[in-house]
Amino acid sequence: MRQKIVAGNWKMNKTYSEALSLAAEIGNYIEQNPLADHQHVVLCVPAIYVVDAEQETSSIDNLWVGAQNCHYKDSGAFTGEISAQMLQSVGVKYVIIGHSERREYFNETNNLLKQKVDNALANGLKVIFCCGESLKTREKNDYKEWIEEQLTESLFHLSMPQLLNVAIAYEPIWAIGTGKTASPEQAQEVHEHIRYLMMNIYGAATANKVPILYGGSCNPANAATLFAQPDIDGGLIGGASLKIDDFAAIIKAMP
Ligand code: PGA
Repeated sequence: MRQKIVAGNWKMNKTYSEALSLAAEIGNYIEQNPLADHQHVVLCVPAIYVVDAEQETSSIDNLWVGAQNCHYKDSGAFTGEISAQMLQSVGVKYVIIGHSERREYFNETNNLLKQKVDNALANGLKVIFCCGESLKTREKNDYKEWIEEQLTESLFHLSMPQLLNVAIAYEPIWAIGTGKTASPEQAQEVHEHIRYLMMNIYGAATANKVPILYGGSCNPANAATLFAQPDIDGGLIGGASLKIDDFAAIIKAMP
């Protein structure tokens, strides 16, 4: 069975004590409801909390801490930045790269993201690589080409073994934080297309191993129907990952 992932993207939310209580609550939930071997839950907490979150959750099987971003170099004069090497050195397992908020507010380009992906993988992190179109691109019916360009320019230079350490998150920008979810059919159409693109380059065996997550207003009410689609392998969850009851319900919906 393909790896399934439910990853919480906490974005810039929670104080220290709030963050640790939430990590502990999620840890307790998973201890009581253990994950199967093919299931991973990832907490992409603000970077300042990764060390404590890692300590809080390290004894729980298949529960991992992730970061929301990293630099493309190992070290150097880059004031305010955090490297994949640093994240790896404190036990972080995953990093989100290419979130639409990073692309939009921090001008991250496909070429920059390619360098970040390379550096994160070289440092042994697993990458959750985000792609997805704006409302304008969707309305122009150009979304498949747009996503193909994002993946081609940032991801499809990877070798087969490298790609197996990547999960792709399809996050239509018009669905992020808007309460407007892509329908299961809309999401499945794009996920299937992403798998088809991978098949053309890497072959079916590899393409069938890469998890493709859906993100964008995923919540307890729609998670199970989304996750039931053949090419949806879990979710990248923003708002609903900040509340224990909602996040636990989404974990429970993971196939
Ligand atoms: P949302 O965010 O679930 O709040 O829409 C998803 C994301 O941005 O990863």
